[in-house]
Amino acid sequence: MRLPEPAARRRFQRRLLRWYAVHGRDLPWRHSRDPYRVLVSEIMLQQTQVDRVIPKYHEFLERYPTFERLARARPADVRRTWRPLGYNIRPTHLQTIARETVARYGGRLPDDGRTLQSFRGIGRYTAGAILSFAYGRDAAVLDTNVRRVLGRVFLGPRRLARARGQRLFWELAEALVPPGRAYDFNQALMDFGATWCTPRTPRCGVCPMRGFCRSAGDPR
Ligand code: ADE
Repeated sequence: MRLPEPAARRRFQRRLLRWYAVHGRDLPWRHSRDPYRVLVSEIMLQQTQVDRVIPKYHEFLERYPTFERLARARPADVRRTWRPLGYNIRPTHLQTIARETVARYGGRLPDDGRTLQSFRGIGRYTAGAILSFAYGRDAAVLDTNVRRVLGRVFLGPRRLARARGQRLFWELAEALVPPGRAYDFNQALMDFGATWCTPRTPRCGVCPMRGFCRSAGDPR
């Protein structure tokens, strides 16, 4: 597939950012660019809905406000604090990342994608989120919401149904990031997918992309 032309990219970027200025959600992790806070929120959001993450995010940061404090904590306590978010490996990964950040990187979370993805618990999505949200890099993010939005707008229902794998979607997501605006653009894409371009009942009638969306009126 040919990637969208520069004019089409700019149109999408402009409309999404304008939409976000009006409809973006005020979420607690958007008040800080501290890499630690970004990491905690993104690990929580990997498998848990925003509404359930919010109270836990506050509680977790109150108890473990820095990499150092999390690194020193007892693993059983960290798991207990995490527990309402589900029995799983995420708190263990998070604490291991904190310990390695303190022991090997002087307490500063690395700011390159390859090192970030060498940590267990950080995949390409979470690395892109950390790079764009904490370090202001022009990195892309791709999760199921973003995939649906980009697939609908740029591929259309037939090609989206046939699309396999993630490579094309990463290429699209990377091509679309507006230089210098990755923070707002990526947060906007997530909100747009979560609240507007939803799986079952997208708001096509009031969608800022409807003039050029390849799935307008026929979302699947
Ligand atoms: N899901 C994953 N990361 C998110 C973020 N930063 N804001 C909202 N939802 C998300």
